[in-house]
Amino acid sequence: MQDFASRLTAWQRRHGRRDLPWQGTRDPYRIWLAEVMLQQTQVETVIPYYGRFLACFPDVGVLAAASQDEVLRLWSGLGYYARGRNLYAAAREVVQRGGFPTTQEGLAALPGVGRSTAAAIAVFAFRRRAAILDGNAKRVLARRFGVEGERLQWQLAEALLPARAVGAYTQALMDLGATVCTRAKPACACCPVAAACVARREGRIAELPRPRARQPLPLRRATWFVYVHGGRVLLERRPGSGLWGGLWAFPESPLFEVPKPRELAAREHGFTHFRLRAQPILCALRKVLPRAEAPGRMWLNVADAVGAAVPSPVRAVLKGLLRA
Ligand code: ADE
Repeated sequence: MQDFASRLTAWQRRHGRRDLPWQGTRDPYRIWLAEVMLQQTQVETVIPYYGRFLACFPDVGVLAAASQDEVLRLWSGLGYYARGRNLYAAAREVVQRGGFPTTQEGLAALPGVGRSTAAAIAVFAFRRRAAILDGNAKRVLARRFGVEGERLQWQLAEALLPARAVGAYTQALMDLGATVCTRAKPACACCPVAAACVARREGRIAELPRPRARQPLPLRRATWFVYVHGGRVLLERRPGSGLWGGLWAFPESPLFEVPKPRELAAREHGFTHFRLRAQPILCALRKVLPRAEAPGRMWLNVADAVGAAVPSPVRAVLKGLLRA
């Protein structure tokens, strides 16, 4: 057990990633922001978003004083928008209570911060001794120890924690999973624990961790009405905490009588639980009726709409409009 941690930590010192923008700080704000962005998104995708976000919101006070719309605008394109909404809610809580909680339990009580994210923040910002179990860690533990299942893996993760240098060990677990013990074609020749690896010994690398049985995703269909008038396009704020809650998108049901609707290129987008096939219909209006002006709706110049808090497939349609 001790051997596992010390091998990983030694590996980290020589081969781990050291130049990531959220490393080399102990500012809980910067670490929390990075860990939330990294929850469902890869390092390379996160880096530019992280920089833009910090440039706009350099500390938790500035973030809490912003509007949710500004936050979602900078989040747009990263997906999983509940993260952006929770981030904003958590910032307001942190400011209210006068600072970040400094324990894993306290951190886990913030919106959008689960057990593993709380542990990562506690370790990196507050030098606590806490176990992470993110996707990378799960894969490493599944292969090295042949252990699967949430409960057992948490027990194992806790038992493996070294007494000291938990920061280097935690980063090692993340980096090993991301760069060596990858899902496909792991680089076992570079792995510090290959000699003791259960998956390798038993020839089960491909089946550990067992891929979750994935039913084909249900297909949802949507019709998007792309109302344009005088160079502007009508967007509607999606309600509540739904998939795109708080973001701006095209109305999905007919609002106006349309002289000559025209089908634009359909868009497909994959979500966790379904695929979406949206059929945008271009509706060039001769005039705008009063009922088009309602709370939660706005007309934006098409170029401004591209830069608004819109989800990626909506942005793709808007870019097409801009080119046309
Ligand atoms: N994935 C989750 N947290 C990470 C971190 N701090 N560094 C690299 N990858 C990560």
